[in-house]
Amino acid sequence: MDLRSSPFVKWAGGKSSLLPQLLHHLPRQFSNYYEPFLGGGALFYATCERNTSFNAHLSDINSELINAYVIIKEKPDELIQSLSNLELDYYRAYSTSKFFYEKRNWLPSTPVESAARLIFLNKTCYNGLYRVNSRGEFNVPFGRYKKPKILDAQNVRAISKTLKDTNAQLRSSDYKSALSSCGKNDFVYLDPPYQPKSKTSSFTDYAPGGFSEVDQRELAEEFERLVERGCKVLLSNSDTPLTSRLYERFERIRVTVNRPINSVGSGRRGYKEILVLGVPN
Ligand SMILES: C[S@@+](CC[C@H](N)C(=O)[O-])C[C@H]1O[C@@H](n2cnc3c(N)ncnc32)[C@H](O)[C@@H]1O
Repeated sequence: MDLRSSPFVKWAGGKSSLLPQLLHHLPRQFSNYYEPFLGGGALFYATCERNTSFNAHLSDINSELINAYVIIKEKPDELIQSLSNLELDYYRAYSTSKFFYEKRNWLPSTPVESAARLIFLNKTCYNGLYRVNSRGEFNVPFGRYKKPKILDAQNVRAISKTLKDTNAQLRSSDYKSALSSCGKNDFVYLDPPYQPKSKTSSFTDYAPGGFSEVDQRELAEEFERLVERGCKVLLSNSDTPLTSRLYERFERIRVTVNRPINSVGSGRRGYKEILVLGVPN
């Protein structure tokens, strides 16, 4: 059986297309792996394909998303059952669009149902986006896919094993508190909501509140503190005058990637990003 795991949700800013460059800068050895802007977690899975001899500390401010990780780790079979029911009902529905909007309005009563709903909506909504309104309600429209794969039982089981093998601690929290305990010989991957290149290209609605320019500045200060504390830090962000300035003391590598969610139309190709490397002395 193939036990490779991969993201169970499509996530804005997902890092699948940048993996070769990110893996190139992954330290050979570290005790703890911290990813406090987890999203779909593409780098985490790719790291685990190399080895799982570290403890993982995975977190995101999005509590629904973190709940789904917790359920996958602790109750994969219950989640598979719940997703299998949803998939069956979806394909039997007279109107898949109506079924989608019913599930979008549904308030689940258990954490397993909540995880199944998040995955179901992600697989059937427009572009696999996660976006909420100011009240924190998911508001992406129906995606009109012909045959979305709602349940991938093999991947759910593989992720569950990966999370257990790395003794993953899963937290829904702001990145700062998630990083309070890391130190020497730990690896931190920071993939914040990107600094928008222009007002219209902004996509930072993963949770109500967004990620402002002040947040970007504070993150750069946190980056410096982490390196001073002895952590090896890798950060990805959009390549803008502000991000270049904020990280000018560190090694920066410019990369070009295709980014299907963040941008529209002709802006889809050749998006410029930077990787910043923080290596302790
Ligand atoms: C660019 S995405 C990460 C994408 C991820 N690397 C992937 O491969 O899918 C940024 C993530 O940061 C989270 N986030 C936003 N503000 C945050 C904060 N203050 N603290 C922690 N997480 C935050 C969002 O919920 C979102 O999942």
